[in-house]
Amino acid sequence: MKLLYLGDVVGRSGREAVIAALPRLKRELGADVAVVNGENASHGFGLAPDMADALFAAGADAITLGNHAWDRKEIIPYIAQQKRVIRPLNFPPGTPGDGVVDITLPDGRRVLIAQVMGRLFMDPMDCPFRALEGVLARVRLGVTHAAIMVDFHGEATSEKMAFAHRFDGAVTAVLGTHTHIPTADHHVMAGGTGFMADVGMCGDYDSVIGMTKEAAIGRFIRKMPGERLHPTEGEATVCGALIRIASDGRALAVEPVRLGGRLAPAMPSR
Ligand SMILES: [Fe+2]
Ligand SMILES: [Fe+2]
Repeated sequence: MKLLYLGDVVGRSGREAVIAALPRLKRELGADVAVVNGENASHGFGLAPDMADALFAAGADAITLGNHAWDRKEIIPYIAQQKRVIRPLNFPPGTPGDGVVDITLPDGRRVLIAQVMGRLFMDPMDCPFRALEGVLARVRLGVTHAAIMVDFHGEATSEKMAFAHRFDGAVTAVLGTHTHIPTADHHVMAGGTGFMADVGMCGDYDSVIGMTKEAAIGRFIRKMPGERLHPTEGEATVCGALIRIASDGRALAVEPVRLGGRLAPAMPSR
């Protein structure tokens, strides 16, 4: 089995690039499942329902969110119906939506997608480790599910790496999102869990993590709120990772995907 994961889709340029590339990427890479992070799809902040529908129509099987989950309020009634959009598991009890989605492939195999959010340099949240332990008490890699993929949405590479080691062998992959910068640490850990601290954003890299340079620079210089941030509209780089998965659910390889825009390209072979 192969799972394609694409990182934070930022604004119009990110959406258009993903919607154009995803059907071809899925076909050419032979991906059985595609997951996309959509927390910044709506002008950099949140995910509007029509944009979620467009990502599903392009071939996404699930969409994850993050700290920008609630920036577009229309998502709240939407995720009550559309269970393939998930938000971090470790929001407090009573938060709308779910932190996991169970996907059944045409051949009957089940794939579980979960998302947790980090706590270093992020808003206070419940414990991401305990949140995933709660899920893993109900499912078993290679027994109930052919793959279990966890999106770790967070700022700190140390927290992401510690989390992946804690669950090494119990999940197929821990893939990072949120920083909007792809890391070069993609590998399979000793116990068989694939890891990449951040898969990068699907957005225009002639920017500050997808946002207009002038406004972002001004915030650092003046330490005042200043101009509102807007996503840049140049050509996006589609960033993600392809996980090759063995029949026991463990990762065989984690390979970076980078297509278009300003970053150096990377494309797994089929
Ligand atoms: Fe993001
Ligand atoms: Fe985020």
